[in-house]
Amino acid sequence: MKRTENQMLVIFGASGDLTARKLVPALYNLYEAGQLPENFVVLGASRSNLTDDDFRKKVVLESTYLEDKLKDKKKEEILDFANKFFYEDLGNDYDTDYAPLRKRVGDLNKEKGTAGNIMYYLSTPPTLYEVIAKNLADAGLSTQNNGWKRLIVEKPFGYSLDTAKKLNVGIQKYFTESQIYRIDHYLGKETVQNLLVTRFANSIFEPLWNRNYIHHIEITNAESVGVEKRGGYYDKSGALRDMFQNHLLQIVSLIVMEPPISDGAEEIRNEKVKALKSLRIMKDEKTLHDQTIRAQYMASTIDGKKVKGYREEEGVDPMSTTETYAAIKFYVDNWRWKDVPFYVRTAKRMPTKVTEVVIHFKSPHHQIFKESGIHNKDNKLIIRIQPDEGILIKFGVKVPGQGFNVERANLDFYYSSLAETRVMDAYERLLLDAMQGDATLYARADEVEAAWEFVDPILNYWKNGENVRMYGYPSGVWGPENADDLIEGIGAWRNPGENLTDDGGFCVLC
Ligand code: BG6
Repeated sequence: MKRTENQMLVIFGASGDLTARKLVPALYNLYEAGQLPENFVVLGASRSNLTDDDFRKKVVLESTYLEDKLKDKKKEEILDFANKFFYEDLGNDYDTDYAPLRKRVGDLNKEKGTAGNIMYYLSTPPTLYEVIAKNLADAGLSTQNNGWKRLIVEKPFGYSLDTAKKLNVGIQKYFTESQIYRIDHYLGKETVQNLLVTRFANSIFEPLWNRNYIHHIEITNAESVGVEKRGGYYDKSGALRDMFQNHLLQIVSLIVMEPPISDGAEEIRNEKVKALKSLRIMKDEKTLHDQTIRAQYMASTIDGKKVKGYREEEGVDPMSTTETYAAIKFYVDNWRWKDVPFYVRTAKRMPTKVTEVVIHFKSPHHQIFKESGIHNKDNKLIIRIQPDEGILIKFGVKVPGQGFNVERANLDFYYSSLAETRVMDAYERLLLDAMQGDATLYARADEVEAAWEFVDPILNYWKNGENVRMYGYPSGVWGPENADDLIEGIGAWRNPGENLTDDGGFCVLC
């Protein structure tokens, strides 16, 4: 097990929702598992006027996000955890003199023995990243001569290629790239990491992982919820920026990448960048028209309950043209993937919450069992990211009886069968990695920029292209009616159920 050095976590924007909802529960899990260092302090910093006690109440003692975890715990244990939290009011503005913050950090460091090691977590709008980095540097809080300093930034990392580049340059003026950790919580998911293991720790998949055997690849990311209370943010973002540019292209990069030399952070990230750079950028309007679909959810009734359409949501422009559904077909220009189409979609207000990768294999090149209908049913490898995490292989078996009738059977593995192993939540895993200085599961600057390079032309086309359609779909269905048109010649999306094997594989009941 790697060592976690004594340290302080300074959270900017600490009074916001993310701290209480994600960061503190993740820290509590680490605390319970004995994975926090002996000397550890969390210093919340933001513009709210709170005392240490107020902050402890807000994010620990009275937090609804911790309620379940704490209900059976002893008071001393809860207080021991809560007493690690402190708060510093920054006043009205993040762009201010950080001398009082430096003093607080210095005092806590001395008092609690955190060895000068500091991790800054920016849970603020990205417009403040450079401002905060600069003020930290000006106050001498980024220098590493008395302990390491790391900076974690949340998404969205840029709004376009141009803004992402500016943001990178802006932060890199004050922190070196090796100090910067760009969080993408999908990389913290066990099942996303398992894509690497499935591919590179088995000799049965990797030989088939190329254009000779793979017909096409499909990735679905569906959410049943709408934009909830985030209409204001979402309306300026949309599905492509919110999910595709980051989480889904991260998954794509793990599927597309070549084997790295080792599991070192730079080795893996170098291969991911190469993979992202090999995505064929769509340049002309015809390609962009034929290979992209955007849509918005409309009002509907789900399970007897009325749900609002996107344009009626709070914070959303009633004339909005922001997509809540995005489906993209693309190719990868390299030796391994030539001519293999990738189909990736992400959407809100779908029938269920599910994320999965489906590798569709080619049919056997010589059909022996001609009457069996097998050619309509390719072999599939389904990697379920969430929920019902697992892996499913669909393969042909002989139907008992005369002749050679072939049907599909399922071979499956479920993470839940590893009941003994505690699966870390994504934020927990990522926080622990950063605390230990492991950046493998964090996005590097060139990775983020390569992803924007692919996404930018689609966004520009959707914004400025001629006659670009915005389709509608009733909330609770699998997208607009024409969603399958993208998969021309191949058929349709696999519309998965909540459970991995919900699509009814072949079985003999008696
Ligand atoms: C976030 C997006 O990054 O990921 C949200 O901003 C989305 O819109 C969320 O709901 C989905 O994450 P998960 O882990 O629930 O799939």
